[in-house]
Amino acid sequence: MEAKSFLLSFSSNPTKTPSVGSHSRPSLSIPSQKWSSCKTHFDLKLVSQRGVPRRGFLCINRAENGGFADEGGGSGDGPRRKNLAVFVSGGGSNFRSIHEAAVRRAIHGHIAVLVTDKPGCGGAAYARDNGIPVIMFPKSSSSPDGLSAADLVTALRRLDIDFLLLAGYLKLIPVELVRAYPRSVVNIHPSLLPAFGGKGYYGLKVHKAVIASGARYSGPTIHFVDEHYDTGRILAQKVVPVLPNDTAEELATRVLHEEHQLYVQVTAALCEERVVWREDGVPLIRSKENPNDYS
Ligand code: GRF
Repeated sequence: MEAKSFLLSFSSNPTKTPSVGSHSRPSLSIPSQKWSSCKTHFDLKLVSQRGVPRRGFLCINRAENGGFADEGGGSGDGPRRKNLAVFVSGGGSNFRSIHEAAVRRAIHGHIAVLVTDKPGCGGAAYARDNGIPVIMFPKSSSSPDGLSAADLVTALRRLDIDFLLLAGYLKLIPVELVRAYPRSVVNIHPSLLPAFGGKGYYGLKVHKAVIASGARYSGPTIHFVDEHYDTGRILAQKVVPVLPNDTAEELATRVLHEEHQLYVQVTAALCEERVVWREDGVPLIRSKENPNDYS
């Protein structure tokens, strides 16, 4: 594909700023009855996307093909193809694997924009090479073209973004963004949270700490993002063994390989609206193959 370079510019004085906490088009919800062709009853106590308790049995309807009546942009009866914003500060190998999965239609979503604080990073270069618009965030003395948090929310709204995927983005996500996209921002971390997470745990530091602790298992965690580092609700994990002679680099390579698989699976589940919320606030992924199974 012809190399293109984009830098989106947005008005710093938007005429219409959506109110905080009012994501106008909730994109992760109990699937709509509109596309039902069979009914399943189960007794897990689940709540809706908004966190409103739904007591007793919940009836979820879905298309017989596992939820896809529509493989296009949403004009059919199935869930609309979701718009994704990926946040990257580094090499962007997770970003790349998600993009490749979207291109081959393994994900019912489209990467609409890359957000970065490092315009020269590998992830930004990959975005430009693949015609994906790049937004710089945040604004700083070294990045005067960066957007403010409020302008970023406005920009993402204009792009009709459904989910924000953090993939090696090192800055803390501001509260404005978390509140503007409830239950719609996820991050990948290279350890089994809540262990080896929090401020300062990034890159090889995580793997060095795992090895030094004597832990026999590590692996990636994908979690919803709250206002702190690595503390949001856990959505998915994959266990990777820590071998007796592992270096941090060797462990990082083994974990990263699993990250690529896991992030694609989780993004697919988000886009297919297969993430549901247990009554206690824990998110679960409904299996595509067996809709009565959750992980
Ligand atoms: C990954 O290890 C991820 O878990 C962490 O940052 C790293 C990003 O790697 N949050 P890449 O840029 O996707 O290659």
